[in-house]
Amino acid sequence: MHVSIVVPTYREALNIPELTKRIDAAMRPTGHTFDLWLMDDPSNDGVEKVVRDLGYSWVHLVTRTPPRGLGFAVLEGLRKAPGDILVVMDADLSHPPERIPDLVSAAERPENDLVIGSRYAPGGTIAGDWSLLRHINSRAATLLARLFTWVKDPMSGFLAMRKDILDRAAGDLDPIGYKIGLELIVKCRCRRVAEVPIHFSDRQLGKSKMGLKEQIRYVVHVRRLARWKYGELARFAEFGIVGLTGVFVNLLVVTLVSEQMSRMGFAASARLNTAITLAVFASMTTNFFLNRMATFSDKATKSLGRAYLTFVAVCLIGGVVNWWTTKRLATEWHEITLGLQIAALCGVAAGMLFNYAGARMFVFRTKRT
Ligand code: GDD
Ligand code: MN
Repeated sequence: MHVSIVVPTYREALNIPELTKRIDAAMRPTGHTFDLWLMDDPSNDGVEKVVRDLGYSWVHLVTRTPPRGLGFAVLEGLRKAPGDILVVMDADLSHPPERIPDLVSAAERPENDLVIGSRYAPGGTIAGDWSLLRHINSRAATLLARLFTWVKDPMSGFLAMRKDILDRAAGDLDPIGYKIGLELIVKCRCRRVAEVPIHFSDRQLGKSKMGLKEQIRYVVHVRRLARWKYGELARFAEFGIVGLTGVFVNLLVVTLVSEQMSRMGFAASARLNTAITLAVFASMTTNFFLNRMATFSDKATKSLGRAYLTFVAVCLIGGVVNWWTTKRLATEWHEITLGLQIAALCGVAAGMLFNYAGARMFVFRTKRT
């Protein structure tokens, strides 16, 4: 079996000598033939000379052309590399090259679709000085990944797989996915994912490129994967999340307006009528914009004004559906404990389903072609 190791690089020239030396030392005893693909986004850091001076015939430096980015670099490398087994790892030596042979032999086993070099599998460790924030970030990101997989370290960038598994996803792979492991698990429909414990070191030289921008990109990535995997259900879930934000807007407005009006000496009934009406319209409005920007961003075809008015109409009818359902069920269940509350929940569900269907059909329609 021929093993190709794909390494995305951006300003990693300083790490290349040790990386290649350690890969060489780790791979030689295995008897596998191997090569390395440094997928460099033009770094102007002298990496060309570093690679030339090393004189390894198995090291290939690919100086990329735009679009730049980690995801693009990895995907291009995976497609270019000739190996029967493909390995992806970072250049900064946080992924120990000594573990490559273990990842490779796990990937060779036909029952494994994907192998992850895992920080969180039993025996895996992380170099000590992670800040609390970095821990929280890593954990939160892993939690989001639970939508797709139960592997312990879905965020890892240290992976191995057989080429035929990659071919399953064909053109579906999306390079926004700098969490390339997660992208592969979902799009290549990996059932069996093996985790090989690794010690994750701090990067040795140079600096990390992961910041807030990458975290936002990750959320966008998760959303795209959810749409890809769960389709309409994922869209409905997004609609639900928007609805929850609307609940907060509603509570905020109802409180502020009612307090302000009572300070101004309005009578209770006028105060309530105004506060509730404003709160309902405020939350409908924020819901509308969030849905237009997110849930139905691909379907914002109507003019803003017409879409808004249709949305309000749908929501008002949805409110009536909620009211009517709740009343019917509550009457029926009047002897059951919490009957009213359960009825109200059913009313919310019915109203929400109605709103979703209405928004989908009348507000955010795809233009007929
Ligand atoms: N070609 C290219 N283009 N390579 C890039 C780019 C880019 O825009 N940005 C980063 N890289 C390369 C780096 O040179 C390095 O080899 C690797 O991608 C990881 O980048 P780091 O900057 O070291 O990121 P990190 O340590 O915060 O995150 C890594 O580890 C995480 C935990 O295992 C990544 O591998 C993440 O995917 C992984 O989740
Ligand atoms: Mn790193």
